[in-house]
Amino acid sequence: MDKDMKELLLKKAVEMRERAYAPYSGFTVGAALLCKNGEIYTGCNIENQSFTPTVCAERTAVFKAVSDGIREFEAICIAGGKAGTPTRFSPPCGVCRQVLSEFVHNDFKVLIAISPDEFKEYTFDQIMPLVFDLNA
Ligand code: THU
Repeated sequence: MDKDMKELLLKKAVEMRERAYAPYSGFTVGAALLCKNGEIYTGCNIENQSFTPTVCAERTAVFKAVSDGIREFEAICIAGGKAGTPTRFSPPCGVCRQVLSEFVHNDFKVLIAISPDEFKEYTFDQIMPLVFDLNA
């Protein structure tokens, strides 16, 4: 992933916070998922008054891509924070890590945006060691 692509992913993740539907937590999250074919799928969190149907931004992006027939991913950028406040460091929840683990390899990049100009970068194996393996 080159510098321009990183910048684009960061920008899209931060922008996607605006699309979040988060009236219950007031915490808005945006995600931008880079596919190996170069396409970017975005997502936001979508809450529900019954709470458990709430879906995170990361899973929205993954499910959009997979339902379009795309299963190979290179990187994801995540941006979150209290609605109306600047993006802060907001790592993916355990459920989203589990969902990502179905499709990504250890070298999949996880960018966590702090601001469009500042982010932390991890590989998937750093944030998800000891992945569950049905066949192990
Ligand atoms: N949320 C995400 O979108 N991604 C995460 O990885 C963690 C949490 C959302 C779910 C809920 O709408 C709000 O943030 C507060 O938990």
